[in-house]
Amino acid sequence: MSASNAVKIGLLGCGTVGSGVVVLLNDNRDHVTQRLGRPVEIKSILEMDTRKTDALGIAPRMVTQDIGSIIDDPEIETVVEVMGGIEPARTYILEALEKGKNVVTANKDLIALHGKELFEKASEKHRDLYFEASVGGGIPIIAPLKQSLVANNINFIYGIVNGTTNYILTKMSLEGKDYEGTLKEAQRLGYAEADPTSDVGGHDAARKISILASIAFGARVTYPDVYVEGITNITPLDIAYGKELGYTLKLLAIAKEENGAIEVRVHPAFIPDRHPLASVNDVFNAVFIRGDFVGDIMLYGRGAGQRPTASAIVGDIIEVARNSEHGDTGRISCTCFEQKRIKPISEVKTRYYLRILVKDRPGVLAGIAGVFGNQQVSIASVIQKRTEDSMAELVFVTHQVEEGNLQDSLKIISGMAIVGKVSNVIRVEGEETLI
Ligand code: NAP
Ligand code: HSE
Repeated sequence: MSASNAVKIGLLGCGTVGSGVVVLLNDNRDHVTQRLGRPVEIKSILEMDTRKTDALGIAPRMVTQDIGSIIDDPEIETVVEVMGGIEPARTYILEALEKGKNVVTANKDLIALHGKELFEKASEKHRDLYFEASVGGGIPIIAPLKQSLVANNINFIYGIVNGTTNYILTKMSLEGKDYEGTLKEAQRLGYAEADPTSDVGGHDAARKISILASIAFGARVTYPDVYVEGITNITPLDIAYGKELGYTLKLLAIAKEENGAIEVRVHPAFIPDRHPLASVNDVFNAVFIRGDFVGDIMLYGRGAGQRPTASAIVGDIIEVARNSEHGDTGRISCTCFEQKRIKPISEVKTRYYLRILVKDRPGVLAGIAGVFGNQQVSIASVIQKRTEDSMAELVFVTHQVEEGNLQDSLKIISGMAIVGKVSNVIRVEGEETLI
């Protein structure tokens, strides 16, 4: 039976996350009611595939294929968008805000691309647009950045924000298996999608770090602003060589601000074994943040999955309902108040691991070192690894160098007669984040 004082919501989509929201609101009904002072009830669900709603025991009268019946329902205070994708999700959210609804969404693709438009509409209508679940699944990260840490200048964010790739890299590191085999196993176990492109290509992480960077630095960063490399070129050999050097390989999402310019990138990176992020394994996510007053913080947990993501969404629903009760929706809206330059990758300064196959004969090392020297690339260490068929593998680690200089030197080195190939280039990060 419906309680007359209940917060009524409309749910758009009843897939993995939508089902989680239904289950949480059912299982924790009393708990939620006590915390909020009134129950939260799903009044209507937009879902084409009624087998999904039937499986949850949802009455057919609550399921609709007509968005209008949710958006035009004056009883519905908050629309929860968990359909995913850009359209029609974007249009539905804009229409819901226009009609005076609050919106809770998990849709990182949409926020990372159309955030500005959506937040402007929410501000115009003095309504809440909450999106905690869009980054880090169940890990609270949006609210901490917008509220608890707002007094700090954020120096940087280093995140492991994609569970699929973290699972694959963890297995490759622990079991020495290759990328392709590990991906297949992850797909078999349900840790990777049938089409894994967005995850293994780094795009999912790029969307998430663009959202975090926008909040942290008070300037809009969109998904296309992010430099992205995925994990598909990683080999067990690189992971093993990195281990010998004291490094763990992770897909890192990095955002930094320096002198008013933002750098924002996603790529595989070696980090020191003693870095807190090095022990974040399997599908777990973590976000490591430095603020000028708070110092270092790491938030760790499950970055995806039905229950953790539902936890974040229902947390948002309750917060929005509290705001609504006090006529206070729209209080914390868009936190971007200025424009900042996004650095091209060529200006980024970091350290590099380089694996280069060369002819095994005198003068080769000196020839390569000469090119690096001319391009202002300073070598921190070099090791000669396996030798085969008169070829040797050299593994260099550089000091900090500007990416443009490194790439220029690699172009010259690749063309040298003494060089077989530049087998891999992996950035080395995180040493400056250790105290
Ligand atoms: P999902 O399992 O594919 O669920 C989406 C649901 O929405 C499906 O049931 C789909 O129905 C329905 N839907 C899509 N378009 C629709 C439309 N136009 N009208 C009516 N129903 C429609 O996806 P999900 O994993 O729950 O993810 C939902 C959102 O949460 C995405 O934005 C995702 O990025 C985000 N998210 C997911 C996770 C996670 O762990 N899964 C974590 C964090 C954030 P059909 O299948 O019948 O089309
Ligand atoms: N596909 C994502 C991951 C989960 O592997 O972390 C949804 O954000």
